[in-house]
Amino acid sequence: MDRKIAVVGAGNVGATVAQRLAEKTLGDVVLIDIITGVPQGKALDLTEAAPIEGHDAAIVGTNDYEAAAGADIVIITAGIPRKPGMSRDDLLTTNAGIMRSVVAEVARHAPEAIIIVVSNPLDAMCHVAYEVSGFPRERVMGMAGVLDAARFRAFIAAELRVSVENVHATVLGGHGDTMVPLPRYSTVAGVPLPELLAPERIAALVERTRNGGAEIVGLLKTGSAFYAPASAAVEMAEAILRDRKKILPCAVYLQGEYGIDGLFVGVPVKLGRRGVEEIVPLRLTDEELAALHGSAAAVRELTASLGKAKAFAGPHPL
Ligand code: NAI
Ligand code: 2OP
Repeated sequence: MDRKIAVVGAGNVGATVAQRLAEKTLGDVVLIDIITGVPQGKALDLTEAAPIEGHDAAIVGTNDYEAAAGADIVIITAGIPRKPGMSRDDLLTTNAGIMRSVVAEVARHAPEAIIIVVSNPLDAMCHVAYEVSGFPRERVMGMAGVLDAARFRAFIAAELRVSVENVHATVLGGHGDTMVPLPRYSTVAGVPLPELLAPERIAALVERTRNGGAEIVGLLKTGSAFYAPASAAVEMAEAILRDRKKILPCAVYLQGEYGIDGLFVGVPVKLGRRGVEEIVPLRLTDEELAALHGSAAAVRELTASLGKAKAFAGPHPL
């Protein structure tokens, strides 16, 4: 195929991303992990499913970044996930070290690629990827808003007993407890949510969205969500590979937009062949803007503490 997507981290999210990419025939897939045998085994398993699924994507599993050469997109899922009782921020030191080592290899072998970061804590990990890669901001972005908005959409659809296809939702801010779901910019068949639901019901759905990741961690107990996160990352990849010009909430490096400077925060962007092709402005109320700035302040604090994170010194004991 004329497109190649490298997926780093062959765990729950990475392997599911690889599966969805192949089944949507978005390109050939290279699955990379630090553990010998895991990416190779999962890639072989996915290859053996191809005749049944009816796609011709080549899926290669490897521990060697050489195979990522020429990749159009690199989706980074390497890192440790949350366990019950942990916040996304608890992952900072370990995952920052992993991210540094991964991105150095990506920049060496696929210098023209667009990077989609998935590893947590998301916004801070984007910052590491941006700094280590030296790529322009258009080619480094994080997946969070698409997932958080999908959760909000699913909860709204269930509450109102309508098709999820009728529901659009917007969630801005950092991928954490301070994320900012925006009911005014969330619609059902074009009708804004505040016209359809009582404020206390909206507040309950917003709260459930904010806790969406923790709700699943609490149920799984051994890790965090991966089906919806994989779908979200693949929607972003598809928008880029097919030059869809889709407007999606993504973590991007803001340089003054929304009054935020020098920080990765989730805002609506237009995704196309060049990556982030536009940062889409929304007219926010004072209250919404204050919530976004509050979320950005939490991201800034976490990102600032990255300087204290230790350098990656070898395979992490999982
Ligand atoms: P997992 O534990 O199933 O998989 C992680 C994989 O990364 C493992 O296979 C591990 O061997 C690999 N890995 C570790 N160090 C590596 C290195 N230096 N190079 C290459 N591979 C390496 O975890 P899961 O569930 O796939 O989650 C991955 C990450 O994505 C976590 O940090 C999680 O918190 C994050 N996540 C973020 C979401 C978001 O909305 N942004 C949603 C879901 C997960
Ligand atoms: C989630 O929101 C763990 O960040 C991940 O499910």
